[in-house]
Amino acid sequence: MCGIVAYIGQQQASPIIIKGLKRLEYRGYDSTGISLYDGTELHTIKTTGKVSDLEAKFQGHDPIQATIGIGHTRWATHGVPNDVNAHPQTSNSGDLVVVHNGIIENYASLKEELIQRGYTFSSDTDTEVLVNLIEDVQRKEKVKLGKAVQIALTQVVGAYAIVVFDNKKPNELVAARLGSPLAIGVGEGEFFVASDATPFIEYTKNVIYLEEEHLAIIRCDRDISIRKITSDKVIKPYIEELQMSLENIQKGGYDHFMLKEIFEQPQAIRDTLRGRLLSNEGVITLSSLREHENKFLKARRILIVACGTSWHAGLVAEYLLEKFTRIPVEVEYASEFRYRDPIIFSDDIIIAISQSGETADTLAAINIAKERGAFVFGVCNVVGSSISRLTDAGCYTHAGPEIGVASTKAFTTQITVLSLLALRLGMVKGTLSRSEYQQHLVELESIPDKVSEILKQERLIKEVASSFKDANNCIYLGRGYNFPVALEGALKLKEISYIHAEGYPAAEMKHGPIALIDEQMPVVVIATKKGHYDKVVSNISEIKSRKGRIIAIVSEGDVRVKELADYCIEIPESLECFTPILTTIPLQLLSYYIAVQRGCNVDQPRNLAKSVTVE
Ligand code: M6R
Repeated sequence: MCGIVAYIGQQQASPIIIKGLKRLEYRGYDSTGISLYDGTELHTIKTTGKVSDLEAKFQGHDPIQATIGIGHTRWATHGVPNDVNAHPQTSNSGDLVVVHNGIIENYASLKEELIQRGYTFSSDTDTEVLVNLIEDVQRKEKVKLGKAVQIALTQVVGAYAIVVFDNKKPNELVAARLGSPLAIGVGEGEFFVASDATPFIEYTKNVIYLEEEHLAIIRCDRDISIRKITSDKVIKPYIEELQMSLENIQKGGYDHFMLKEIFEQPQAIRDTLRGRLLSNEGVITLSSLREHENKFLKARRILIVACGTSWHAGLVAEYLLEKFTRIPVEVEYASEFRYRDPIIFSDDIIIAISQSGETADTLAAINIAKERGAFVFGVCNVVGSSISRLTDAGCYTHAGPEIGVASTKAFTTQITVLSLLALRLGMVKGTLSRSEYQQHLVELESIPDKVSEILKQERLIKEVASSFKDANNCIYLGRGYNFPVALEGALKLKEISYIHAEGYPAAEMKHGPIALIDEQMPVVVIATKKGHYDKVVSNISEIKSRKGRIIAIVSEGDVRVKELADYCIEIPESLECFTPILTTIPLQLLSYYIAVQRGCNVDQPRNLAKSVTVE
């Protein structure tokens, strides 16, 4: 959580930093700040609220001409969101400023020691402890800034991405990371540092993804110098070419990123399938799987670890992998897995699913699995992310940047990749017949067009949303492959509209939740023809006889559910295993329009951040 942007070069730093922070608001948006050095003094402006509030405050300020600066948008961990706790945090001398993403776990003991040495603190943040620790090292050891940061970080326990600026060394930035991402944009005589590459996409395509435990000393009159935090050995930076374009990260005429990303799904799924699904030749190729396929075929078990929406994709994958490969699959919340001393066999395979590739709990779960000798396969969207680097092999989803906090295209493309994986393994293992395999390939290829068909019902879904926008609670029901979709539908509604919603396997309703049903209770039921249709129809009758209000997701041409439900949204027929990709789409739109009609901030829901890089 938290977004960092820093600049050093010849251009005015403030517009670059403020625009960059706006792009990183998905990482946190409760308070924000900027420090700029104008050649004589350091100016720090901070505020509670969003980057637009900072911009307004900045515009009310005397103009600051500065070609070096650091900025931050915060998702509070230590200390409530207010102006004082906002970053940058300043050292006691006023010379050092730091922006930080992460948590310094031993901040309390470090603070105690610093207080004993005469330091005072005005904020409740762990970051103010860090900046004073660096200053203390500078004073005691009489070393340059880079070395002082290095020494200070060896005393720190926790996770961080930081950028430090020293008033006394105004031509230099020092950046370092452990557990939180940092990308460095390399321009002509200028450098950008940011939590991801989006803030500098229009300035340079050359990027260095700073590695774990690495520290960079950045001066525009010299080359960048990178070393490990724990040694002085200089490391040659690896400069990559950015594959993203500015267009990818703009709203492109949509009111919200979430809506844009919902509508991008046909293309995103096509991009996921491109070069991997060759239905004419009857082939699925996953290049990263090639040399490891045997490990999968011999696996005792597959364990899937993920959080949130990615965990829901993992649940769909459980159905897919067990059906096609007959390998037992378990799906775990990464946050639980990491702390329960899990039993992991060396012939287990771990699949870690993460859109951002930065989720702290998923990273920790991967580390545990690797320590215990398991092979870890990643499914990530963000290229070059920490998870994609840490795993032994993996597949990118190629969904393009997902900026709306509520995950949409990440989910459907994760299921697409996992479908490819399950089908490929099933065919190679012989647990899926050649003809079934072929039938699935042809159907999977048609899924993007079917998603486009569903999106045409936007207006109907908007109308349905208006009937339910004032609900306080909502139940989502699904069975089999569509039980995880019920969970995902409920999560989408909760996170962006703040309506309490729960997903259940439809048959579980009788074991408790049915007590909630009355004429006030909206119940969203996934009732497609393929997948326990008759049973779900019975569940719908049970709700109807208790006066529940039913929104049903049905297959085209359905008759029976239409007689019972208050509203029906149709999806094209498909094979059962691919219905989650289709049934999810109307639920995303339903949540979106309910949230919009309730006046909620869809792209930046309260209390949330896109990447959860802290526990
Ligand atoms: O980046 P990840 O896929 O690892 O993120 C996991 C969750 O934090 C994420 O899916 C979260 O639940 C979304 N807000 C859901 O829309």
